[in-house]
Formats: sequence, structure tokens, C-alpha cells
Amino acid sequence: MKIAVLPGDGIGPEVTAEAVAVLESLALPGLVLFSGDVGGAAYHRHGHPLPEETLAMAREADAVLFGAVGDPSCDTLERHLRPEQAILGLRKHLGLFANLRPARVFAGLEHLSPLRAGIAGGLDMLIVRELTGDVYFGAKGQRTTDSGEREGWDAMSYAESEVRRIAHVAFRAAQSAGLPLTSVDKANVLETSQLWRDVVVEVSAEYPEVALDHMYVDNAAMQVVSHPDRFGVVLTGNLFGDILSDLASAAVGSIGLLPSSSLGERQTAYGTFGLYEPIHGSAPDIAGQGKANPMATILSAAMMLRHSFGMEAEAARVEAAVARALADGILGGDLGGAHGTAAIGAAVRERL
Ligand code: IPM
Ligand code: MG
Repeated sequence: MKIAVLPGDGIGPEVTAEAVAVLESLALPGLVLFSGDVGGAAYHRHGHPLPEETLAMAREADAVLFGAVGDPSCDTLERHLRPEQAILGLRKHLGLFANLRPARVFAGLEHLSPLRAGIAGGLDMLIVRELTGDVYFGAKGQRTTDSGEREGWDAMSYAESEVRRIAHVAFRAAQSAGLPLTSVDKANVLETSQLWRDVVVEVSAEYPEVALDHMYVDNAAMQVVSHPDRFGVVLTGNLFGDILSDLASAAVGSIGLLPSSSLGERQTAYGTFGLYEPIHGSAPDIAGQGKANPMATILSAAMMLRHSFGMEAEAARVEAAVARALADGILGGDLGGAHGTAAIGAAVRERL
């Protein structure tokens, strides 16, 4: 079971180290870990945010554990050399079109949410975000208009095959969990969204038992914080999913708690190949200080055990240990607590 560990920038190395320690303490036979450079760290060492060797290592592995990328010292580089291109390139090259971002308020931890307790308790949703299309991967550029003004542009598009395959992922998730599905778009303004909606309706014919509704993204943002209990599975495109998943995680209490998995079609000997990462970024302001909360990355490792290695029991054990640590008041600075990265990691391992 080969895992490529790509710590990346900022707090990435600190939080992935704790997730690796959790994996190691499970003493799973046959587990082999490799690590590679990615993001700004890779740019500084190899001149590219996603070096060939790193991509090759990821392809060779059965799963990738990813930290974070983003480095302010790279902000003025040409776009193709910026750290963010590493994660976008991995998603694209590895065909990881399905991004699963579960967001839920842990029972008993409603007080960590900025939402009122009566509202927060209802937050338990799975965001299924399309990850390799949309305005993220369309043509883009800057140009000078006829009137001599600078103009930036990014093309948004979705092919029906792209919508169909992510819709199937969301419908299957809704079906197996017995949850309703909400497809989020902006069909009142965007043609891309109109096609998205039409294709989702077509796919829904194959899942008659899943209750489907459609919501405009602005309304969805409002509902996530006012009536989160109305969501089960949320299906959306790349850009809207990026925004809604940060919103949902902040509503849980902290972006430091939420894991994600990015899956494609490739099957390995153990399960589905995937990339697992916290949904938070590199947080350069607290990097290297031992303050970052590693729970999102530890929970991402749990998702890896479940989806890429078929180890449901071990995944549940890790998740339970995190929940117990939270319930015992092991809180990082992101949650108003004083526990540092290493202390949180140790507390989770003690509770495994
Ligand atoms: C995320 C991040 C990335 C994205 C960035 C780092 C390119 O915000 O995974 O949500 O926008 O997808
Ligand atoms: Mg994001």
C-alpha cells in the first residue's frame, strides 16, 4: 500500500507529519510511505511547483496524502509557476474529478460553530464538487481592449460528459446514504449552469429514489448558514464548490477540521486511487510555529483508509479518536483553544 506524502508549503509539513504519525501508529502491515516536493517548496528547490518526479511518484502510489500549497514569496511569479498550479496539475493529470467534502458539526460540539446551537446541530452535509473543469481549467488571459483598457478573462464551460460523471458520483452517494440531493448552479444567469441543470435532470431518471432539487448558488450560501439541515448531498461545479465548502467548514467551527478526498476512475489493488487533503490552505501567517490544527489532515488520512484501502474499521477508529479529543477539550487556536500541532496529534494517537 504505497502512499505518496506531499507536504507542500506553510503549515502543510506540520499537519501532514501528524497525519503520518497517526497512520504509523496504526501499524498497518504493508504500508509504505514516500515523500515528495510540491508547491512553493518544490519551486524553490526544482524551479517548478509540480516537478516530474513528484507527479511520477503520485502516479506510482495507491493514494496521495497532500498538505497545502501557497507561498506569498511566489505571488509575483508567472501563473504556471505558482504553487497553486501543483494541486491543480495533480487533480488534472491524475483525473481526480470528484471532490468529496463532508462538513458536519460533531455531536456535542455545537458550541464550536459560529451558528446558533439550534441551527448548527443540523449541519451535516456532503459537498460533491466537480474538480477538473469549469472556469478553473478554461482558457484565460489578459488583453487590451480596443479602447486601450486592460481586461482579464476566464472561460467557463462544462461538457455534458463532465457533468454526467460527477452527477453519478453525487447520486450514488445520496442513494447509499438515503439523503436528498441538491444541485447548486447559477442557471438564471449562466449557460454553463443551464446545461449543468439539464444534464443533472437527465441523470436523475436513473435514481428515482433520490429526492433532487436545484438551488441557485447565492441562495445556497444563505441556506448553508440559515437552514443547514435542509442539505444532505450537495452537487456543484468547481468554482461554486470551492466557495461553498469554505463556507460550510467555517459554519462547522473551523476550516481546521474538514478533510477532503479527490477521486477519479482508477482502481488499484486496494480500492479507488485518490488524493486526500485538508480543505484549508497553507496559512503562511502561522507556518512553522507549531500552532496549526492537524485534525483536518488526520481526518483526510482516515478518508484515505476508507476509500483507497477499504479499511472502514481503521478509518472509523481514527475519526472516533479525533471526535473524542475534541470532546475532551483538545482544541487548537482555530477553535479558541491553546493546543498546538504536536499536542493535538499526540492526543489523537492516545485515543486511537
Ligand atoms: C481548494 C483550494 C484550491 C482550489 C486552490 C489552492 C487552488 O482553495 O482546494 O479548495 O481553489 O481548489
Ligand atoms: Mg478552496
